[in-house]
Amino acid sequence: LQQFLFKKPNEPPLVFHWFPLIGSTITYGMDPPRFFKENREKYGDCFTFILLGKKTTVYVGPKGNDFILNGKIRDVNAEEIYTVLTTPVFGKDVVYDCPNSKLMEQKKFMKIALTTEAFRQYVPIISDEVTSYLKRTPDFKGKSGIVDIPPKMAQITIFTASHALQGKEIRDKFDETLADLYHDLDMGFSPINFMLHWAPLPWNNRRDYAQRTVAKIYMDTIKERRARGETGAQDIMWHLMNSTYKGDVPVPDHEIAHMMIALLMAGQHSSSSTSSWIMLRLASRPDIMEDLYNEQVKNLGADLPPLTYEDLAKLPLHAAIVKETLRLHAPIHSIMRAVKTPMPVPGTKYVIPTDHVLLAAPGVSATDESYFPQPDLWEPHRWEKDSPLAPTIVRNVPSEEDDEKIDYGYGLVSKGANSPYLPFGAGRHRCIGEQFANVQLQTILAIIVRNFKFRNVDGSDKVIGTDYASLFSRPLEPAKIYWERREGCQL
Ligand code: HEM
Repeated sequence: LQQFLFKKPNEPPLVFHWFPLIGSTITYGMDPPRFFKENREKYGDCFTFILLGKKTTVYVGPKGNDFILNGKIRDVNAEEIYTVLTTPVFGKDVVYDCPNSKLMEQKKFMKIALTTEAFRQYVPIISDEVTSYLKRTPDFKGKSGIVDIPPKMAQITIFTASHALQGKEIRDKFDETLADLYHDLDMGFSPINFMLHWAPLPWNNRRDYAQRTVAKIYMDTIKERRARGETGAQDIMWHLMNSTYKGDVPVPDHEIAHMMIALLMAGQHSSSSTSSWIMLRLASRPDIMEDLYNEQVKNLGADLPPLTYEDLAKLPLHAAIVKETLRLHAPIHSIMRAVKTPMPVPGTKYVIPTDHVLLAAPGVSATDESYFPQPDLWEPHRWEKDSPLAPTIVRNVPSEEDDEKIDYGYGLVSKGANSPYLPFGAGRHRCIGEQFANVQLQTILAIIVRNFKFRNVDGSDKVIGTDYASLFSRPLEPAKIYWERREGCQL
């Protein structure tokens, strides 16, 4: 009955619900991946559900990923959805508070700063930050212990990212004021703020104060750096200070400041959640932690010298750990777009009308048996060529070279998003932080592996559940692991 009452002809099937406005908000919000999987079985790859009163159309699978993420700019729009949440946190005139063409230029500036030369400087910076953190943190003192790992990984992520991307000066401020201010900024990202972003609630007031204060800290730092006549720095702030928009227009200081906030927030949640999952997965599979240790000994030498950027290429299992963890635990489970013109779905009778929101969920195909044998098994070795669990197809083209590329204004990206594995998104909004995240996560992983052995506190191979209550999914807390120093621990 509902189908006839609420669904127009040519619209995808509507997920059954009892209450008109609430719709499926609660079942979706409790466990989005499960919601997608169950409804896909009932309705197929493309279906609509009610999210906070809004008709939201999900299209899963490689074709759905492509349809949404590579949607034309006249058809789909990201800023209309995200701006209420992001603008009060990042600040004005950047990311989703400006036309898409400006975001593309901003992404180009940020991406240019993420070069091999910069990464070469970042690996020692990240290694030193991790080592110094592990040395000074009471929870890691002694021969062995039990630690709630996500808060520790959140700190390691912010110290490593802020030092590498924003320079030592800003990093040092995280020991003083910045950590608390960023915490308050973060409150702006709770999903409830999709509706209450404007409300004069205590956490929104703290968010607004934190935004102004953090932006001022960055702007003051920019002025000081300029006055000093600094040269040769590689961090992104420095690069933005020397970038110009089309027409030779320098980037205003407040935009640099707001981009710095956006960059750190974009990377912080995803990288910190991913590194926590990596540690928790290793605790459930100590054998893989040994494989990693042996990979370092074999390929870098038994004395495990200080890590360099070049070393990372010699550690394919370390890279596979990140890949496999993102396959099962991609922190962004739902990617949304407003629909601007009615969009016919190729090969079907459906046309998505402009009062719908489109939702891409690449995590669904990343855990689909048709592409990944034993999809729920975390098995980093599956990314080795001859593994019986190797993905059947990851991109529907024979090789990287045949993969057609397109430039949306921030460098070349794959033209087709027709892939079941897209933890970094695709198209004009694709992540620019992928390589940085890989460098950061692999370095953190390598340093932890050479110093510790992990296992679950009860010795089992269990893995904790996922918390979907914030915008980025992460492990439920507390998530405790047992650690033990290795012989030859370098701390
Ligand atoms: C966009 C994932 C780390 C900066 C995205 C998107 C995804 C993603 C899925 C697409 C969002 C959309 O289409 O709406 C991840 C994951 C990360 C990660 C899984 C780590 C494991 C980072 C880092 C940075 C970063 C470290 C910064 C250095 C950005 C930026 C965008 C983006 C600027 C562009 C947003 C847009 O164009 O709308 N990321 N990201 N990300 N990410 Fe990341």
